[in-house]
Amino acid sequence: MTAFPKTSALMARGAAFLGTEYAILCGAMSWVSERNLVAAISNAGGFGVIACGAMTPELLDAEITGTKALTQKPFGVNLITMHPGLFDLIAVCARHGVSHVVLAGGIPPKGSVEAIKDFGAKVLVFAPTLALAKKLLRSGADALVIEGSEAGGHIGPVSTSVLAQEFLPALADEHVVFVAGGIGRGEAIAGYLEMGASGVQLGTRFACATESIAHPAFKKAFFRANARDAITSVQVDPRLPVIPVRALKNKGTEEFTAKQVEVAKMLDEGAVDMMAAQLEIEHFWAGALRKAVIDGDVERGSVMAGQSVGMVTQEEPVADIFAQLLAESEAALSRR
Ligand SMILES: Cc1cc2nc3c(=O)[nH]c(=O)nc-3n(C[C@H](O)[C@H](O)[C@H](O)COP(=O)(O)O)c2cc1C
Repeated sequence: MTAFPKTSALMARGAAFLGTEYAILCGAMSWVSERNLVAAISNAGGFGVIACGAMTPELLDAEITGTKALTQKPFGVNLITMHPGLFDLIAVCARHGVSHVVLAGGIPPKGSVEAIKDFGAKVLVFAPTLALAKKLLRSGADALVIEGSEAGGHIGPVSTSVLAQEFLPALADEHVVFVAGGIGRGEAIAGYLEMGASGVQLGTRFACATESIAHPAFKKAFFRANARDAITSVQVDPRLPVIPVRALKNKGTEEFTAKQVEVAKMLDEGAVDMMAAQLEIEHFWAGALRKAVIDGDVERGSVMAGQSVGMVTQEEPVADIFAQLLAESEAALSRR
């Protein structure tokens, strides 16, 4: 008998899909979602996801091995579709028998979904529009994550509440859909479950858990910040489409503007093509995030955070965060 019967009932399909007790994913966060946080999430009954980011196949291999040593429970691996070694990374997942792969950062390249399904894993994808979501689900994706602009990290232009209203009535009867972006409390989880979501994905709320290896200065910046401090990056050159990133405002935000000017100039001079220019920008983010998460340079690094950051006020063990979220969700559903 579960302690949260109403929540568990609404999460049943998502939990069965993930092989977990609760259909709560901790979205992959580059540098943050490594073995310690991932295992802690899975051990608490949720679903941890390793952020592969720019890792080499060797590093991913070591991270999966390390995670397996810390948990017997299911966890996933998040791969960025534009990674030049995507298929080598998929091969690493296959060797480890990874059960779920999340493809993030753009439309999955030809053959990637098939390559993952070939070794028996389930594929989760992101889709910015309903039409694309339907196409990806038709062509083999097993589940969908819809992520609104309230989220931390790379974001799309539409809020979670609007995406949920567009996608859930159209897809939730037949498909497993997880809702992400701006979720800081259980009442919001209850709301999306009632709308038909199979589960939810949170990042910001878990980034500063006790088990997270993020630098104390990174965590302190989260505890001090309010929703309005988590702002989106701006695009300075219309020819250089950069995916907006939500992070806490600091000096690094200004340096990103300067970086874009520099890359646009390289484009002008023909020193790089558009693909290389966009990769330059992504490398900038990976480096800037590392600076903040690992080195603790929260002034010049990128402190990626969602708008729910105002609800993150102290360091807490993952299990306590789960207990709070589930109790809030259950109380909300019990009032109905
Ligand atoms: C610090 C940070 C780093 C992130 N890095 C990634 C990433 O590498 N890949 C990815 O798919 N999503 C990334 N995200 C997004 C999360 O996986 C998750 O979807 C998001 O945080 C959910 O919204 P929330 O922040 O409002 O909870 C990141 C988010 C944060 C806060």
